Amino acid sequence: MSIKNLTISPEVISDVIQVHKNAYLDDHFTNKLSDKLLEEYYLQLISSDSRFSFILYESNTPVGFVICGSDLNSNVKAFIKANFLSVFVVLIFNPKFFLPKIKAFFTRFSKASWKSNANTRLLSIAVDNSIQGEGYGKKLLIELEARLLDFSHSRYGLSVKNGNKGAISFYLKNGFKKERSDAKSSYFIKDIE
Ligand SMILES: CC(C)(COP(=O)(O)OP(=O)(O)OC[C@H]1O[C@@H](n2cnc3c(N)ncnc32)[C@H](O)[C@@H]1OP(=O)(O)O)[C@@H](O)C(=O)NCCC(=O)NCCS
Repeated sequence: MSIKNLTISPEVISDVIQVHKNAYLDDHFTNKLSDKLLEEYYLQLISSDSRFSFILYESNTPVGFVICGSDLNSNVKAFIKANFLSVFVVLIFNPKFFLPKIKAFFTRFSKASWKSNANTRLLSIAVDNSIQGEGYGKKLLIELEARLLDFSHSRYGLSVKNGNKGAISFYLKNGFKKERSDAKSSYFIKDIE
């Protein structure tokens, strides 16, 4: 079985979406977006710097992907700005996300908002749910860290919802340390060498 990874480009966005839909649970807001919006979301995320965003294939089947970069919040903001109405409609039809998203929006812009010691952020890591727990997540981190070190990024961080116990256990097993937590999320950081 051959394994390969490709830097994410518009040509492989549909594979990213396929994995996304099979990895993230229904309680993830992005899963409520249409395929078209999701495509625009990922295209926006890779538009400024795609060096650390890649997709993994096993025998030409997409199995997992990583989105990582230094200022991805600006890309998320640009996506929301460009698709404000469409995202708003999705929120209206999925009211359980409405308040948390409004709160997150204002926290992001509040001066008191906390800043991590890691500028490089792992925004998304996902493995197709039919093969989770088989080591592909670890393979993704190994490839990511090799790419980061190639560009002298020796530290990266991430945030994860407190309820996502599987992912938290995955990060702890892969050498991340907790930097902070609040009522909603935990923030992890890792030094690589
Ligand atoms: C988190 C994730 C990327 C890990 O990838 P993976 O290929 O399942 O992980 P690995 O096989 O390398 O590592 C296995 C470890 O991950 C953890 N894990 C997380 N989710 C798991 C799952 N659904 N099945 C099995 N193990 C899981 C366990 O701690 C496991 O260790 P164990 O086998 O000793 O119990 C993957 O489970 C996933 O895509 N989850 C859904 C998307 C998500 O929540 N992403 C993180 C957002 S912050």
